[in-house]
Amino acid sequence: RMYKSRSVCRRDTDVLSVPFLAIYESLIPPEEEKKKEKQVLALLEKLVRKEWPAAKLHLYGSRANSFGVSKSDIDVCLVIEEAGLKKAKIIRKLADVLRSDNLQNVQALTGARVPIVKLMDPVTGIPCNISINKLLAVVNTKLLRDYALIDPRLRQLAFIIKHWAKSRRVNETYHRTLSSYAYVLMCIHYLQMRRPAILPCLQEMETTYSVTVDDINCAFFDKVEKLRDFGRHNKETIAQLVRGFFHFWAYCHDYANSVISVRTGSIISKREKGWFIGTDNDRHLICIEDPFETSHDLGRVVDEYSIKVLREEFERAAEIMLNDPNPCIKLFKLY
Ligand code: GTP
Ligand code: MG
Repeated sequence: RMYKSRSVCRRDTDVLSVPFLAIYESLIPPEEEKKKEKQVLALLEKLVRKEWPAAKLHLYGSRANSFGVSKSDIDVCLVIEEAGLKKAKIIRKLADVLRSDNLQNVQALTGARVPIVKLMDPVTGIPCNISINKLLAVVNTKLLRDYALIDPRLRQLAFIIKHWAKSRRVNETYHRTLSSYAYVLMCIHYLQMRRPAILPCLQEMETTYSVTVDDINCAFFDKVEKLRDFGRHNKETIAQLVRGFFHFWAYCHDYANSVISVRTGSIISKREKGWFIGTDNDRHLICIEDPFETSHDLGRVVDEYSIKVLREEFERAAEIMLNDPNPCIKLFKLY
């Protein structure tokens, strides 16, 4: 009898999760998209091999890390050995190669921090970005995908947070708010910090996968099929996690002194990292450590204005989650 009443109680609290799970389901890309994406990749591979026969194309970003909603752009990394050639030069050559095959809207963006070729797939109209030798992104894509395989609540939470961030326009690095990659790291970190923990810290476990990229050793435990029930002692529902996430970023995070670190599964101090105004050109107003490029703060894009916008949005969301009996409408209200 006791068992019965407890399960009824759990189902009661989970009523709040129903609309969140419905939104999550509606954002999952349909199977056809995977097929089309394969066609685009095959076409690009064929064209690229004409110029660079040994080239390899890797899919990375949200199409490969399992945090991509329907119709996200296709991020591709071209890996070639062109010792001596500047990236900008390769980008221009690549753009020419693709243009010569009637592909439309091919742009070489060589001025950006990461030079890329942008194009539109003629069949699907899906935008596609090609970068050169950005292997760290391929490796961090694998880390994110492996985390997603451990507990289904990560993918649900990250879809909802990304959807919120896009709706509220705080997912635009050119407007000095955070990248999708940064939001996913915030979600992983939040689940690592739950007690009992929902996610482990893969980089602190036995190394089963290890590569060295740009002189950085990337090592972690990737036998995640062994961790499928890691989070079983924590029964928090998706609605509770969404509320907790916003509450943390609205009221609990110490913006002045703390750095969130997925690498260690903990919070570390800005002092320890030397992340103060004046030590480099970055402001470090919200600090998110990259799991591999540890000198890299994914919050570096945020400035004195956009930090206010971000924190007000976290507070708004936390407030809605606390007081609104039907929070989804307001939460995702387009800005
Ligand atoms: P959406 O396109 O918004 O669905 O998400 P996305 O995961 O593709 O996001 P984003 O455009 O932010 O980044 C694409 C990929 O590039 C990420 O998944 C990461 O693998 C990588 N990436 C993005 N920003 C950084 C960064 O600052 N440092 C590193 N090392 N990698 C990054
Ligand atoms: Mg992307």
